[in-house]
Amino acid sequence: MAEQNDQIPIYIMGKRYDVPSSLTIMKAMEYAGYTLIRGVGCRGGFCGACSTVYRIQDDPKLYFGLACQTVVKPNMYLGQIPFFPAKRATYDITELQAQATTLFQIYPEILRCLGCGTCTKACPQELNVKNYMAAAMRGDIAMVANLSFDCIMCGLCAARCPAEEPQYNIAILARRLYGRYLAPRSEHLQQRVDEIQQGMFDQKLAELKATDEQSLIALYKARLIEE
Ligand code: SF4
Ligand code: SF4
Ligand code: FES
Repeated sequence: MAEQNDQIPIYIMGKRYDVPSSLTIMKAMEYAGYTLIRGVGCRGGFCGACSTVYRIQDDPKLYFGLACQTVVKPNMYLGQIPFFPAKRATYDITELQAQATTLFQIYPEILRCLGCGTCTKACPQELNVKNYMAAAMRGDIAMVANLSFDCIMCGLCAARCPAEEPQYNIAILARRLYGRYLAPRSEHLQQRVDEIQQGMFDQKLAELKATDEQSLIALYKARLIEE
């Protein structure tokens, strides 16, 4: 039977299970009978809860992936990392200044980075973690924010780091500083907020709230869309 032929062996906590080859690691674990309570969140590659380390039989390389996004391979030996502890500083972003010393004061270990690149190899988002850490060492907050924009806080970089860096927590500090203090402000946005606060749209909103559903649908379909 085609379906039977499509079964492949994988190893979860060292125990063999035969699972359909089309499944993601997460679905294969559920197929094997596991009820996932930790190590699962969005199921869509965004939350970083399902970090997985794996090896393939007879292949010495260590692989990294998200269980909800990675399709199983034959003879895959899985190690789930639902949480990896790393230093997480507490701060009030409104009391900080967007300058290099802020990064170094809150995370002095930044300067311990060896530039080995192990973190980059581990990142399931294919971020150049080494480079954003190098930017952090230079105190370049905007560059750290830019290079780490797609970080999902999975912790795999920290799990592999020989210098014990909390890369993703350093990166989110940089993104917070950038967002609050450095990102260019949109004049149009501010203008529209002012207009809303002055009540320019109050009457129109009241009219919309009093409009029946069919008329709202017609209005929605007829709306102007900027090219
Ligand atoms: S693994 Fe650690 S020491 Fe190596 S480049 Fe990344 S942050 Fe630096
Ligand atoms: S930078 Fe680190 S925490 Fe962020 S997605 Fe990559 S491996 Fe995960
Ligand atoms: S469950 Fe959220 S990234 Fe996999």
